[in-house]
Amino acid sequence: MSRLKRSDRPYDIVLFGATGFVGTLTAEYLAAHAPAEVRWAIAGRDGTRLRQLRERLGVDVGVLRADVSDPASLRALAEHARVVATTVGPYVRYGEELVAACADTGADYLDLTGEPEFVDLTYVRHDVRARETGSRLIHACGFDSVPHDLGAYFTVRQLPEGVPLTVDGFVSADASMSGGTLASALGQFARGRQMLAAARERGRHEPRLPGRRAVATLGAPRFAPEVGAWALPLPTVDSLIVLRSARALRRYGPDFRYRHYAAVRRLPVAVGGVAAVGALVAAAQLPPARRWLSDRLKPGEGPSAQTRARSWFSVRFVGEGGGRRVCTEVSGGDPGYDETAKMFAEAALALVCDALPPTAGQVTTAVAMGDALTARLIRAGVRFRVAARR
Ligand SMILES: NC(=O)c1ccc[n+]([C@@H]2O[C@H](COP(=O)([O-])OP(=O)(O)OC[C@H]3O[C@@H](n4cnc5c(N)ncnc54)[C@H](OP(=O)(O)O)[C@@H]3O)[C@@H](O)[C@H]2O)c1
Repeated sequence: MSRLKRSDRPYDIVLFGATGFVGTLTAEYLAAHAPAEVRWAIAGRDGTRLRQLRERLGVDVGVLRADVSDPASLRALAEHARVVATTVGPYVRYGEELVAACADTGADYLDLTGEPEFVDLTYVRHDVRARETGSRLIHACGFDSVPHDLGAYFTVRQLPEGVPLTVDGFVSADASMSGGTLASALGQFARGRQMLAAARERGRHEPRLPGRRAVATLGAPRFAPEVGAWALPLPTVDSLIVLRSARALRRYGPDFRYRHYAAVRRLPVAVGGVAAVGALVAAAQLPPARRWLSDRLKPGEGPSAQTRARSWFSVRFVGEGGGRRVCTEVSGGDPGYDETAKMFAEAALALVCDALPPTAGQVTTAVAMGDALTARLIRAGVRFRVAARR
């Protein structure tokens, strides 16, 4: 289906999950920043709460009802939108039917997943159909993984072309999480086996890269003098997204290697952090412990505006290749919610408003809209800078 045909649809953007924690922040961001000519709608399963939200936003947006247990309602969302942006997670539990509807109807799809299993599963099942219809399936459009994907892209572009490149990313943050994020994290920790199976299945479907190499490896824990912190390997979805961008874009060179770390200044904090994550992963294997943990923070709950105002993130990158070395940084405010809502809304606006390279199927933010989204985020206050080069 041509992009022109999709412009006949009643809405440019439909935000599904608008009454959830990050959904509401995204709706507020769009209400404040979407150009007047962008036609958008909020969607969810509770019409009364959606209308209350619209009243509170004070903008004339559409309201659409849809429930993940009703595939016809998801199909209707996809048919009404050029872009569907969904915050309805955990995505492994709730997400696939909407991806299928978007791939089938040619709507672009954006989400906030940090679940590698989901990304691999949708690639295997829906990438081919999305390429046929011209639908762009773009996962991980929040803190997972926009600063990492666009930061690596920004770093690569500071280095020479056509040579092997290595990039290390070091993430630090001070922030709290929402009930939705906790539920997704616990669900993911409990599905290690399924995650590996989905990755293997993807490997069987994904074409090899002729004449080029791109790998994301887990580095060993170490003190990293280049960032003055302890570096702990971080096996999140971020390095997989960076890897997908490197596979798709020749600018990453003939042989690209990425390593992703958490950066922690003090050794006791690093040791404590590893122990805490280990305990969480272990607890997630036991249903009663998982339920107990989920009850601490319910879906819909999240950090207050005051807590978010004190929160921050920084991702530093060290890139090397062709005899050059560059240190860059992407940084901003509250990563999980305020900045995630900004990244998510700006990604949706970029798809609707900006001149982008022609892409279709499962693509990353760097591939679908690297330059446009970076420029948008800089205008919106996310910092991208070159800290040092030689
Ligand atoms: N990548 C990142 O950096 C990042 C950052 C933040 C969040 N996230 C992810 O984003 C997702 C949402 O997080 P959150 O904190 O906003 O969670 P939340 O507050 O629990 O919101 C979940 C949303 O899903 C909706 N929902 C649940 N079941 C549904 C159904 N059957 N049909 C239709 N809608 C349904 C909820 O609707 P109701 O409002 O009607 O309950 C709500 O709008 C999570 O998966 C989280 O991990 C990712």
